Amino acid sequence: MTTTLSRQATPFILTIFGATGDLTRRLILPAIYNLAVDGRLPEKFAIIGSALPEMTDEQFQAFLTEAIEKFCTVEFDRGFWTEKLAPSFHYSGGNFGDPELFKNLSERSEALEEKIGDSCLRLFYFAVAPNHFATLSDQIAAAGLHKSSSSDARVIIEKPFGYDLNSATELNRQLLKVWQENQLYRIDHYLGKETVQNLLVFRFANGIFEPIWNRNFIDHVQITVAETVGVEGREKYYDRSGAVRDMMQNHLLQLMAYVGMEVPNSFDADPVRDKKSELLEAIRDIPAARLGEFAVRGQYGEGYIGGQKVAGYRHEPDVNPDSSTETYVAIKLWVDNWRWSGVPFYLRTGKRLLKREAEIVIVFKHAPEVVFRTTPVDALSPNRLIFNIQPEQTIELDFLAKEPGPVMQIQKANMAFDYHNQFKASRGTGYERLLRDFMLGDLTLFSRSDLIEEAWRVVQPLLSGWESKAERIPIYEAGSSGPAEADELLSRDGREWFGIE
Ligand SMILES: NC(=O)c1ccc[n+]([C@@H]2O[C@H](COP(=O)([O-])OP(=O)(O)OC[C@H]3O[C@@H](n4cnc5c(N)ncnc54)[C@H](OP(=O)(O)O)[C@@H]3O)[C@@H](O)[C@H]2O)c1
Repeated sequence: MTTTLSRQATPFILTIFGATGDLTRRLILPAIYNLAVDGRLPEKFAIIGSALPEMTDEQFQAFLTEAIEKFCTVEFDRGFWTEKLAPSFHYSGGNFGDPELFKNLSERSEALEEKIGDSCLRLFYFAVAPNHFATLSDQIAAAGLHKSSSSDARVIIEKPFGYDLNSATELNRQLLKVWQENQLYRIDHYLGKETVQNLLVFRFANGIFEPIWNRNFIDHVQITVAETVGVEGREKYYDRSGAVRDMMQNHLLQLMAYVGMEVPNSFDADPVRDKKSELLEAIRDIPAARLGEFAVRGQYGEGYIGGQKVAGYRHEPDVNPDSSTETYVAIKLWVDNWRWSGVPFYLRTGKRLLKREAEIVIVFKHAPEVVFRTTPVDALSPNRLIFNIQPEQTIELDFLAKEPGPVMQIQKANMAFDYHNQFKASRGTGYERLLRDFMLGDLTLFSRSDLIEEAWRVVQPLLSGWESKAERIPIYEAGSSGPAEADELLSRDGREWFGIE
């Protein structure tokens, strides 16, 4: 997993579509800055920004200076930025629907290529709303921008990839008219997080865990991504999407794939992606007629977050006051394969919850209590392995220990590993590793078309079922742990959620 970091990236021209947008300013630009400061960009490269406004290169550089000052994740080195990095940024504005823009981009790319040299990659980043993905792809193809005789071309596609199973399949079809599968880098920034990547190292580099990573030892798995924030200015997008499309279909199912996948033959892209895809394929269809047994949705009402009163979802600006968009979803999934048969995976995510927390909890089977039958101990709680992904980056193992004293009493104890204390990791945006892999042509952390479509297949019964039902969506109080129905999803199975309660 470390090999890509020691390799040198090939010279490139990166065209960022959506260069004035929030994603570019807040995450992509600071990530490029961090890569540059760490010496992880090639000696020769150029970046062309493209968006609607007309601007000169200098105006674009001034625009980026403001952004990097605001969003830089490390101490900002003005001299380095002004002299070394900013001059590599260029700009070509226009409407994505206008072929003229792509003619200009072609001319600019060729001129820059002459300076950079022959073996120059053509890289593209679609940092735009999904309705532009196919247009951009077609326009690039029509202008011949994606292939010149001496260069390789690749494209990053942002999420969300599709709106449901049909639209994702159609988008894959449209993109694959222009690109080969191995030129498409469908991004999920969750996979750029160190703690997520560490899941595979934890499982496959430590001989003691893999033998117990199965139905014989594991009772169930919980995956939680809880947010305290509401829709934060994304109301128009969010009200059409909801928690299933925004979080469950991508981040949570990706995490589940990492937890549940079989051992790949190597950490190369296709062996890893094959195993992730097989795991998702093995997830049993949620039966439409029994949706309520497997899935719960909710929407936040008003309440308190950190002592501050906050409005309910329907009172957020730009949200339909009758909206039935879910801001919370919890599901129970079965994986029909040898390793996981009979082990439920419970996944939940929501906004305006009590705590911000992303974690995976592996709950092991109980030890038999028989040895303790003549002692005051009447119940043993299960061992749990907890991967905290954010805001904490820790791995903890819960176990039971004897309380000091003459009587046999048992207490929960805990072994903990803290990523930051151990490695003094520098603060990044999570996009550094993904951008670097993109430059190096490493597809491991990016989703293949089959993975995306399988993930949509898993959530499609929720989308179809809830869309067609007129019944009221449960409302949960902002600042709570979510709707009571989500607790019932587990209590029916004799289990309970851990984490945000
Ligand atoms: N923001 C995030 O934190 C985040 C996180 C993960 C994924 N994403 C994904 O990243 C993508 C971009 O999100 P964003 O938040 O950056 O969106 P945004 O702030 O709305 O930015 C959209 C960009 O596209 C440009 N644009 C829109 N229509 C155009 C057209 N017809 N022709 C030329 N340029 C056009 C805009 O230019 P002007 O505004 O200058 O006109 C702007 O630069 C989305 O797919 C989103 O889901 C975003």
